Amino acid sequence: MADKVVLAYSGGLDTSVAIKWLADKYKMEVIALTADIGGVGELPAIQKKALKTGAVKALTVDAKGIFVDSFVFPALKANAIYEGQYPLATALGRPLIAKMLVDTARKEKAVAVAHGSTGKGNDQVRFDVSVIALAPELKIVAPAREWGMTREETIAYAEKHDIPIPIKVSSPYSIDENLWGRSIECGVLEDPWVEPPEDVFAWTKSPAVSPDKPDYVEIGFEEGIPVSLNGKKLDGVALIQRLNETAGKHGVGRIDHVESRLVGIKSREIYEAPAATVLLKAHQAMEAMTLSHQQLRFNEKVSSEYADIIYNGLWFTALRRDLAAYVDRAQKHVTGTVRVKLFKGNCIVVGRKSPVSLYDYSLATYDKGDVFDQGAAPGFIHLWGLPAKVQAKVQGGEGKEQKPKKKT
Ligand code: ARG
Repeated sequence: MADKVVLAYSGGLDTSVAIKWLADKYKMEVIALTADIGGVGELPAIQKKALKTGAVKALTVDAKGIFVDSFVFPALKANAIYEGQYPLATALGRPLIAKMLVDTARKEKAVAVAHGSTGKGNDQVRFDVSVIALAPELKIVAPAREWGMTREETIAYAEKHDIPIPIKVSSPYSIDENLWGRSIECGVLEDPWVEPPEDVFAWTKSPAVSPDKPDYVEIGFEEGIPVSLNGKKLDGVALIQRLNETAGKHGVGRIDHVESRLVGIKSREIYEAPAATVLLKAHQAMEAMTLSHQQLRFNEKVSSEYADIIYNGLWFTALRRDLAAYVDRAQKHVTGTVRVKLFKGNCIVVGRKSPVSLYDYSLATYDKGDVFDQGAAPGFIHLWGLPAKVQAKVQGGEGKEQKPKKKT
């Protein structure tokens, strides 16, 4: 009996060709696995296509819930944004798909897993490292990294073997999408000086034609997790889907990023991430109100560390789990409601409230009812400024640095 391989199958050109290629080159039986984490299209149609293309089995799983609860929300709680721009949609999806490949391989007694990533990107690293960490005994095959075919040759291969080619192939762009965002690369976008043409965008309206009236959205947080929209409790998947629509309608969430790939390349990527943009902003506003300055400062370091870990394919590592434990603890009081205004491409936080807010009106106000003791300020400043005073006296102040006196 032939060895089995479980292939992460999207129904696109590369993974469709991969089914046939794995069967021909490796003489393996291909089990196609399609994980729906948002944006894969109709599962029954994909399943049919996998079988028609030569898979011995085609499995489909709705993984949207687990994607949001176990990957997206932990990243949101950590404010994970790569290089200050990219909310990490694809990077968060890959470890989940890798885990599903591994689980399926064990169940089906497969000796290998396979994915459609090329040898130039981050995704191969994320798939491979996740599989290595979870199941070091499994062989990993990446057909598109091995076959050395150009896009045209891949299309020709598909035509020759009667593999149905998706209509999307006529698009000049390479696109990946899930609930947390959509990424677009290639074509004219490869010139970083060229403004993205309107046809790269699918989730967001151009602010030029977006509504002339703003929408206001109230996001309820419990311990760092968004749990309601406009006062209505919603599960994470529905909440993100709804926000993608509303914010997208107002042109919110377009990102143009020249990004540093792990494999050493700078690449120009366009993202659409309406819900992620709104939720990350709202979450930070909630934190600003419920965490101390020291906590906020420390969390910034955790955020950038966490983002790099996600981007670089290290989800299933001890450090990621350790940071997640810290983040969970640190979100204990990040509870309350944030109001954002969506208008002409902007998402602006315009209100926030929390039962555990650190904002104290009687301390902050300049009006009647002020309880802040201004008489305590001079003493505080005296000690706060003391080191600066001593240092300036001994070593010279601004612009008149004193040379150390030579002792002979
Ligand atoms: N540059 C982004 C990342 O590394 C998006 C990659 C999208 N992948 C794709 N096959 N188009 O996470």
